[in-house]
Amino acid sequence: MIFQSQAGASGAALYDAHCAVCHGENGKGGVGVPLSLPSFLAGADDDYFRKTIRLGRPGRVMPAFDQLSEDEVSAIIAHIRGWSEHEPVVFSSTWQAKGDVTHGGLLYQQYCAACHGKHGEGGSGTGVTFSRPRDLPIIAPALNNSGFQAAASDQMIRQTLMHGREGTPMGSFLEQGLSQQDIDDVIRYIRSFGGEQPEHKPGRSDDAVLVVESSSSFEDTVEALRQTIVGENFRLIREQSLDKGLVAEGHENSKQHIIYFCNFSFLNKVLAIDPRVGMFLPCRVTVVEHEGKVLLMTINPLRLSQLFNNAELDKYCKEMLQLYEGLLEEASL
Ligand code: HEC
Ligand code: HEC
Repeated sequence: MIFQSQAGASGAALYDAHCAVCHGENGKGGVGVPLSLPSFLAGADDDYFRKTIRLGRPGRVMPAFDQLSEDEVSAIIAHIRGWSEHEPVVFSSTWQAKGDVTHGGLLYQQYCAACHGKHGEGGSGTGVTFSRPRDLPIIAPALNNSGFQAAASDQMIRQTLMHGREGTPMGSFLEQGLSQQDIDDVIRYIRSFGGEQPEHKPGRSDDAVLVVESSSSFEDTVEALRQTIVGENFRLIREQSLDKGLVAEGHENSKQHIIYFCNFSFLNKVLAIDPRVGMFLPCRVTVVEHEGKVLLMTINPLRLSQLFNNAELDKYCKEMLQLYEGLLEEASL
């Protein structure tokens, strides 16, 4: 018993450290779906939790936790279970729904696609926006996701479709008039998505910063960078020395200069996906003169892809990388 309560305590601490930032305090939901809803806990078995925690949902924000020990994962699950009175269900991992995939596809397009996407790609964004209350619209998970496909058993999906998740937009389809057989048909269709890995590669370069050496003087490079930025239709926002605020005024190193700039339509697009990107905006390039060399430097946007694990953001990070590479090259000539 003493052992159990210790495991419970550390489960709470582990949950707070690894999960609460997205799933909210006490599983109330946030960027991640709520985990404390009785209707969810009644329909998800420990195996589903274990696999979801281990595999994550590649490209869908939910990270894979391969650094946690088995005991730590068990402690987190026990902690989450503590939010509900329900005895945990146990589903068969081998039972398969028998159904007609073509009919399932028709039903899927009619009943599911509006929320889960035509191809099961899930609702868009991460669910966080500035204006949205934290407990409101929950983004529909991606069903074609390799992590989901591996974690969810047919029985669990069936349970979810039959009873829905009370307190979320996901309703019961028995109540909406589908038969048990219709539901099994839909399950066969969902399985036909396969669980292909969405395009989510960290990218060509793992370097945290992009660095290019300029062939002209420090002053000429700064001026060339300004002109390139304006020429690429960005707005210059401000400029400052790298050490401004860190050293006494007037003593800044004049050979370290940062230019901040922005493209507002781009900025609005990425912030709509995930406002945390704001930490890395506006765009900035630093010019430094160091040991006789003039260098242009900026963070590698592909690092953001790794940080946010969001396939939609990846696209923009790649665009940003191309832009940055173009700017640095142009300004260094
Ligand atoms: C009105 C929008 C909406 C519709 C329509 C809808 N869903 Fe959902 N679905 C959701 C949301 C939101 C969740 C996440 C609920 C939560 O927070 O637990 C969800 C969860 C699920 C889950 C659990 C997945 C997971 O990762 O937890 C499955 C499976 C699922 N839906 C399948 C379907 C299928 C199949 C249909 C059509 C028969 C359907 N849904 C229709 C919004 C919807
Ligand atoms: C960076 C944010 C983030 C963190 C950290 C995170 N999750 Fe998630 N999690 C998500 C999102 C977002 C989803 C929904 C997946 C989708 O949209 O396809 C999710 C889905 C899940 C699901 C499936 C829920 C369902 O309705 O079927 C479980 C279970 C889960 N997370 C548990 C955890 C646990 C336990 C931890 C800590 C060890 C954790 N998550 C950490 C963002 C996160």
